[in-house]
Amino acid sequence: MIRICPSILNANFDDLPGEIAKVAEVADLLHLDVMDNVFVPNFTFSAERSAEIISQSSLPVDVHLMIANADSAVLDYLETSAMSVTVHYEACEDPGKVLRSIRAAGKRSGLAIKPNTPIEVAEELLDVIDMILVMTVEPGFGGQSFMESMMPKVEKARHWLKQRTTSDIWLQVDGGISLQTISIARKAGADTFVAGSSVYKSANPAMMVEELRNIATSA
Ligand code: DX5
Ligand code: ZN
Repeated sequence: MIRICPSILNANFDDLPGEIAKVAEVADLLHLDVMDNVFVPNFTFSAERSAEIISQSSLPVDVHLMIANADSAVLDYLETSAMSVTVHYEACEDPGKVLRSIRAAGKRSGLAIKPNTPIEVAEELLDVIDMILVMTVEPGFGGQSFMESMMPKVEKARHWLKQRTTSDIWLQVDGGISLQTISIARKAGADTFVAGSSVYKSANPAMMVEELRNIATSA
């Protein structure tokens, strides 16, 4: 199963309903990048604004929290209707506890790791993880180049997941996913793909989502 998750980071923030509508028929989830200007040097949405976007989205929302003190900051997102909430390993004091609280709120729990964080940190948390997010750029901005050097982490995670036949853990990549790079990530074992600029800088975002899906499916 391939999932394509357009990121609205580089979409027009003044017309998010219109931007979401462009991909609503073809995308699997809407990827919402929340940045606090502390964990990353960029700011996107407050918790209030995020909740508003989530409640208005016609697609299920995949929230990617790039915010410090995730242990307490995550609480604002547990009350929303997001389908999935992902926190950064580097931003949590007790990642296991945070992941369990996301699940307890009825959402899929995601654990993201920055490029310099080894994938091994996720291994002992697999029992409380519904999605592993291997960042393929330094978090903070859209439009950066895909880091192919992250593929060994994706391969290792896929190897673990193959051995866990009873669990349904998604393996996501985020950063620089395009028509050129999606097959590399797919071959390494990713099944869930965030695509920001490639979708929203395209003249036809819906067609781009379909093309990305086709390439990933046949890779
Ligand atoms: C980066 C964000 C990404 C971003 C991806 O910190 O987490 O979701 O929107 O954008 P592209 O696809 O342009 O790299
Ligand atoms: Zn993201």
